[in-house]
Amino acid sequence: MSNYSIKHLEEYYQVYRKSIRDPENFWSEIAEEHFMWHKKWDNVLRWDFSKPEIKWFEGAKLNITENCIDRHLATKGDKTAILFEPNNPNEDAQHITYKRLHERVNQLANVLKDHGIKKGDRVCIYLPMIPELAISLLACARIGAIHSVVFAGFSSNALSTRINDSDCKMVITADGSYRGSKTIDLKGIVDVALEDCPSIKNVLVVNRINSKIEMKEGRDQWLQPLLDKASKECKAEIMDAEDPLFILYTSGSTGKPKGMVHTTAGYMVYTAYTFKNVFQYRENDVYWCTADIGWITGHSYIVYGPLANGATTVMFEGIPSYPDFGRFWEIIAKHKINQFYTAPTAIRALAKQNIDFAEKHDLSSIKVLGSVGEPINEEAWHWYNDIIGKKKSPIVDTWWQTETGGIMITPLPYVTPTKPTYATLPFPGIQPTLMDENGQEIKGNQVDGRLCIKFPWPSMARTIWGNHQRYKDTYFTAFKDKYFTGDGALRDEVGYYRITGRVDDVIIVSGHNLGTAPIEDAINEHPAVAESAIVGFPHDIKGNALYGYVILKETGESRDHNNLRNEINQNITEHVGPIAKLDKIQFTKGLPKTRSGKIMRRILRKIASREMDSLGDTSTLVNPEVVEDIKNNVI
Ligand code: WTA
Repeated sequence: MSNYSIKHLEEYYQVYRKSIRDPENFWSEIAEEHFMWHKKWDNVLRWDFSKPEIKWFEGAKLNITENCIDRHLATKGDKTAILFEPNNPNEDAQHITYKRLHERVNQLANVLKDHGIKKGDRVCIYLPMIPELAISLLACARIGAIHSVVFAGFSSNALSTRINDSDCKMVITADGSYRGSKTIDLKGIVDVALEDCPSIKNVLVVNRINSKIEMKEGRDQWLQPLLDKASKECKAEIMDAEDPLFILYTSGSTGKPKGMVHTTAGYMVYTAYTFKNVFQYRENDVYWCTADIGWITGHSYIVYGPLANGATTVMFEGIPSYPDFGRFWEIIAKHKINQFYTAPTAIRALAKQNIDFAEKHDLSSIKVLGSVGEPINEEAWHWYNDIIGKKKSPIVDTWWQTETGGIMITPLPYVTPTKPTYATLPFPGIQPTLMDENGQEIKGNQVDGRLCIKFPWPSMARTIWGNHQRYKDTYFTAFKDKYFTGDGALRDEVGYYRITGRVDDVIIVSGHNLGTAPIEDAINEHPAVAESAIVGFPHDIKGNALYGYVILKETGESRDHNNLRNEINQNITEHVGPIAKLDKIQFTKGLPKTRSGKIMRRILRKIASREMDSLGDTSTLVNPEVVEDIKNNVI
């Protein structure tokens, strides 16, 4: 018997030990007892981190949508699968039952097939947080097409890069989206993106805001009339365990975004099992994760993990501040949310508001509070615990990544004693370790180092789309035979982990991973700019904000610096998206560089964070004099 639901700490340790001692049996028991297979696997696991090659449940046949939908129909057909809460609080919420979800997914799957989409084709999904978004993922999975969701806050440039990287055949989008009191012209963004996306044959458009948009003859169609004509039955394509399920792009420290490829069986088993235990989901609970499905958190813990468990999962279209800062708390009271999962940046923004916004709503339904995306600082943790959880709902500080597919280090609620700012213990099957700069494992407790994982887990990304070498170089080269996370961490006296943040050039702003390179490229596109470097600095709501150091070209002309700042941010908005705008821009004559020409970001980071006294050794720089100049002009 597998321990599918862990109830107390002793049991956690037992299960954990078993998962390390005998991973193959451990995972095959879970896979066997809790999922629906057309054929069982021949091998539970085959792996070699030096290639790297990772295969879970090889030889098994399944379809993930049968596991997320069909198998619940007999017992839970009338249960709400997706509870949609619109942006406008006066618009009715929608309760989509498992039965109705089945029909809607099948209809869309049939429309995709009618447009020539087949197993293995890539479909780009660029939609706001409306039910069609979740349905699009599932419709692709139904027929074995690989979905590539692009967060609908990204610019047309970012969208076309992602479409072209994986040669998507189709885009599913909407005329526009609601965001608080604003509307956003999504179709307009898609049209610009598609000016250089030759692989796209069709665009299906959801009517969300009833706006007048241009439809390109032969390419664009409104989705609803097509759905109305489509059959509500669509046989699920039978997939191999290791067939790709989706591609999701994440920022790298250099170069273009990385299309992380997740495969079918391992991803399904791991997201379902973690969902069950990390949120202690019980049959009639209503679970809400506030992430956007454009990010991995939404893929794994709004769509696949919850639906694989037959849960009710909430999708919220709006933002925490509209119509006022009580919106999250109002929704919790309205739908009697039992598990609430959000990001530290939202917690910090809400904690700054008048406490009445939270206190006037009945939050007594809450049993578990979750946090994800960046380290949660102590003050935010206590506010969340005291004001929202009333000191009775455990906080699960869940550490994981787009690459890991599912939650890796986390407390289990009512099982693991929590400790503010600590993600605590590894989930069963996860073998974390800390490494020093010489590539040695750091044993013992009360130590810190670079966080690596020693052994494969079922939901790890298998490659980077079209670039296996980059996958190897990024994750499996820094430390031999280990997956390197890019994060630093410390381990306390009882073995709890605390994630301290990125040790590479990825900066997490409001929970979004941003690579420095594409932002610097956008800045450098400005005709007046010669060179630039960006770093993060602490910000009390966003966690980190961006600080840009910009060298202007020597033209002899004087330019208005404030205008330039606006223009630079405009460039960033167009090339990357508004989330990557700089909070501060300092114009400088030089950037500190090593003899090999590398920018010393460590020094720039310290100056931007106003830690001027701890700059360390600057003697190895070719131009130590610029450091003084930069310090004197810091903003
Ligand atoms: C950071 C989000 C501290 C970390 C699921 C990681 C965290 C990156 C936590 C991945 C946490 C995520 N505590 N840091 N609980 N959760 N991170 O790919 O730096 O968007 O490497 O996946 O977010 O971000 P991604």
